[in-house]
Amino acid sequence: MDKNKILVTGGLGFIGSHTVVALQKEGFEVVIIDDLSNSKIEVLDGITAITGVKPEFVQFDLKKKDLVEQFFKTHHIDGIIHFAASKAVGESVEKPLMYYENNISTLIYLLQESVKNNVENFIFSSSCTVYGQADELPITENAPIKPAESPYGNTKQIGEEILNDTAKVEDINVIALRYFNPIGAHSSTKIGELPIGVPQNLIPFVTQTAAGIRKELQVFGDDYPTPDGTAIRDYIHVVDLAEAHVAALNRLLEKKNKSKFETFNVGTGEGNSVLEVIRAFEKVSGKKLDYKIVGRREGDITSAYADTTLVNKELGWKSKLNLEDALKSAWEWQLKQV
Ligand code: WQD
Repeated sequence: MDKNKILVTGGLGFIGSHTVVALQKEGFEVVIIDDLSNSKIEVLDGITAITGVKPEFVQFDLKKKDLVEQFFKTHHIDGIIHFAASKAVGESVEKPLMYYENNISTLIYLLQESVKNNVENFIFSSSCTVYGQADELPITENAPIKPAESPYGNTKQIGEEILNDTAKVEDINVIALRYFNPIGAHSSTKIGELPIGVPQNLIPFVTQTAAGIRKELQVFGDDYPTPDGTAIRDYIHVVDLAEAHVAALNRLLEKKNKSKFETFNVGTGEGNSVLEVIRAFEKVSGKKLDYKIVGRREGDITSAYADTTLVNKELGWKSKLNLEDALKSAWEWQLKQV
């Protein structure tokens, strides 16, 4: 039987590359579209080194509608996993138009061609950021969507609305996966997180500080209403997150979805504070981390961690790796960086 061919946009990115590996291991044929604006071509070699199968790679900017049309003229696609987007919260505040153009127009062009070419299965990379500071913890999929704290978060909310409205009238089924905080790297250390410039996210800043690349970690606030005063997040291993995409895709391919637009919170269900992350990192790395408590970062919320009941039950997926596994893999990946 022919293998299902899956398009992964942004497939050379952090989550995208780990998902390509998981898809290939599941027996899917993968084609990647990536414009290399926030990734490196060497990631393709990393994927190939892990699975022994080099995915087809097409480099172009999804904002070029004619190139999107051209791609679908030459490829039969059974499903799409759409990662390609700009994702830096702070940058989105400074460059809102770039974020709305890049994250929304690309989704629209991709959806237009998907519908035209009878692609019926679409997985969307969404984010727990759509909840803002949820009123109740852990966070379920029924938690109210709050006004976005950033243009980045708004593009995820708008993206979900576009997909929901499209699925109502077109032959396309959609699952939006709302990630919590993806961290870590593949155990092979052949792929991992490649922040360009000064890392915005906690874990790459931690590993670069431990590696001596950054002078010290700034902890953004210890006056939150949490046990140790620092903010709490649900840190999910990127390898577990990749597996959740395979489970979601299989659900659609096997037509097990219960509606044409579904959302799932994808996290471990555990919350850890910044200080707990630092302690866990020091334990797995054997390194003492230099850090300083400073003021809160604008736009940060106090606490977010997932209620994983629905994703466990409907996708049959549960995270297998814990915080220490993820931090150890992130450190091993950091040590491999020149
Ligand atoms: C985690 C915690 C910081 C850096 C964002 C997006 C989310 C997703 C992941 C894209 C917070 C603290 C951080 C540092 C610190 N992005 N921190 N010092 O903000 O929870 O989520 O990134 O998909 O959509 O919203 O992640 O890693 O930036 O911060 O103290 O140098 O670490 O204040 O409490 P965040 P983060």
